[in-house]
Amino acid sequence: MKNKNILITGGFGLLGSNLYNFLHQKKYNVFILDKKKNFLKKNYLKIKKERVFQGDYLDKKLIKNIILKKKINIIFHTGAVTQVLDALKDPEYTYYNNINGTLNFLNIINKINKKIIFIYSSSDKAYGEVGKKSYREETCLNSTFPYDVSKSCADLICQSYAKTYNLKIGILRCANLYGPGDLNRNRLINGFIISVIKKKIFKIRSSGKLVRDYLYIDDAVNAYYLTMRSLIKSKKNLRIYNVGSKYNMNVFKMIKTISKIINKDNIKIKILNSSKNEILSQKLNYKKICKELNWKQTVNLENGLKKTLSWYKSHINFFKDY
Ligand SMILES: NC(=O)c1ccc[n+]([C@@H]2O[C@H](COP(=O)([O-])OP(=O)(O)OC[C@H]3O[C@@H](n4cnc5c(N)ncnc54)[C@H](O)[C@@H]3O)[C@@H](O)[C@H]2O)c1
Repeated sequence: MKNKNILITGGFGLLGSNLYNFLHQKKYNVFILDKKKNFLKKNYLKIKKERVFQGDYLDKKLIKNIILKKKINIIFHTGAVTQVLDALKDPEYTYYNNINGTLNFLNIINKINKKIIFIYSSSDKAYGEVGKKSYREETCLNSTFPYDVSKSCADLICQSYAKTYNLKIGILRCANLYGPGDLNRNRLINGFIISVIKKKIFKIRSSGKLVRDYLYIDDAVNAYYLTMRSLIKSKKNLRIYNVGSKYNMNVFKMIKTISKIINKDNIKIKILNSSKNEILSQKLNYKKICKELNWKQTVNLENGLKKTLSWYKSHINFFKDY
């Protein structure tokens, strides 16, 4: 199984970089495609230049060449516009990048080699608002806002290619992820940690009452790995899993939890209450992945936050302009 050639799109992102480390350590032959420039200068991944394609997956010729040249067997498509605020500012590009980018891979796989396994990073946001209930895999995708709809659309298109053209596809709908290597600044956990280290006021863009599941990145990476293995082994060509968490809370509770770990309770926060276009409450039911793939959440919140905090402390020079 180790002789698999793997391509990770968005490999410089939170999920892609941690997935790269994990698979590389397991001796898979892994390549990254990401459009981010100058990442290799930071290079906390210690990835060799020849493993990186710095480019855009909207370029069909480029991705076809990579797949053929490197004889790719498995693609993890983690690349996307991921920031809710970026998506609200530029819905056109978000739809184009997140939907057409996914479609590019599916069409190329369908034409050149249907055996290539494609694992798509969907999201709990793809479900939209379901009130107080938790989402199950069969819950309808019923999103409203641009980032969320881009995820639902690409998710449905992946299902369509698996069911119509028999492609081998995995779809993972993860909770909010956190951990080392997240270079985004507008996410709750890392944004708060960076503000504390830099002694800045932390601005909460919502009312502070939005409820989310929080999952440490290593547990998400393991879910991707188990899904890949199950698609390699089994004849079933479509696997869809929620990857949730037992830690479900609102923004205020998360801030309180981190403050306790940092051992500071006088951290300045400002509530902007400016994000009206976001889902209010989310909770994933993740019994299916536990039962079928024997996946377990292994990192408790306190340990996950401590590891994250320690990474940001030692990499704070990445965030000079924060
Ligand atoms: N982080 C979370 O909380 C979370 C939760 C559920 C689902 N997801 C999904 O998981 C995936 C990974 O999330 P993340 O947090 O690692 O994101 P991230 O923002 O950290 O990384 C995304 C990467 O994709 C790259 N990218 C974007 N468009 C590209 C293009 N056209 N060509 C090449 N590279 C491109 C970016 O440069 C970036 O490095 C995304 O698809 C996201 O929607 C994330």
